[in-house]
Amino acid sequence: MTTVREIRTWDADRPIAMLTAYDATTAALVERAGVDLILVGDSVANVRLGHDSTLPVDQAAMEHHVAAVARGVESVPVIADMPFLSIGADRGDSVEHCGRMLKEAGADAVKIESGPHTVDLTERLVQLGIPVMAHLGLTPQRVKELGGYRQQGQSDEDAAEIRDLAVAHADAGAFAVVLEHVPSDLAREVTERIDVPTIGIGAGPHTTGQVLVVDDAVGLSDEQPPFAEAFGDLRAEFEDALDGYVEAVQSGAFPPGED
Ligand code: KIV
Ligand code: NA
Repeated sequence: MTTVREIRTWDADRPIAMLTAYDATTAALVERAGVDLILVGDSVANVRLGHDSTLPVDQAAMEHHVAAVARGVESVPVIADMPFLSIGADRGDSVEHCGRMLKEAGADAVKIESGPHTVDLTERLVQLGIPVMAHLGLTPQRVKELGGYRQQGQSDEDAAEIRDLAVAHADAGAFAVVLEHVPSDLAREVTERIDVPTIGIGAGPHTTGQVLVVDDAVGLSDEQPPFAEAFGDLRAEFEDALDGYVEAVQSGAFPPGED
């Protein structure tokens, strides 16, 4: 079974497959499907908790979901997404919050929406034994500052900044770098430049691996980003089952009569 350390030096002749999970049941199914990594994303805010951004989900809520996922898996590495403001405000608190994901919630690594402010933190965390996955390109926790969920790295200047930050985080010890919603050429360039894997979402086919939100992958989401693909239609199945239940109870067909 893959470890975070093996991900860092990924040399298998195939892409890395990562999916999110937010609860033990889904995590077990995702593990059985053969993914290499499971991310407990703060996307839980949008896809399961009814929020319209990831900003409202906090450290305690994420620990709760990470712990559930960790209970659901046997051996696939579980990565805890660090929520808005859980890192960055204060160094001690940042380290404490990341450490709790391993110590209390049972994660194997943390993912941090990265920027110039997270290079030193990444180095410190890795020194302390907390593996870090960096995240560049579209970083949804900065939606208010970015003014929306647009593709990042379109200008030469923005592309260079993302590339330089990817190099800086790889040098700081990050074991992988998520690239979200960036041009495919930039993703290819970053992938060639750093010696740890890139994991893309909306970043084209040239990254070392891919990640999707599990609800998008199974066709459960109400709406999903244009770059996601549904590999099933779970929403229709869910609706059929629920309609069937309600109809059976209301018509008296369930439970069956005793005779
Ligand atoms: O929260 C999340 O699901 C993520 C992935 C889309 C990378 O950060
Ligand atoms: Na996230």
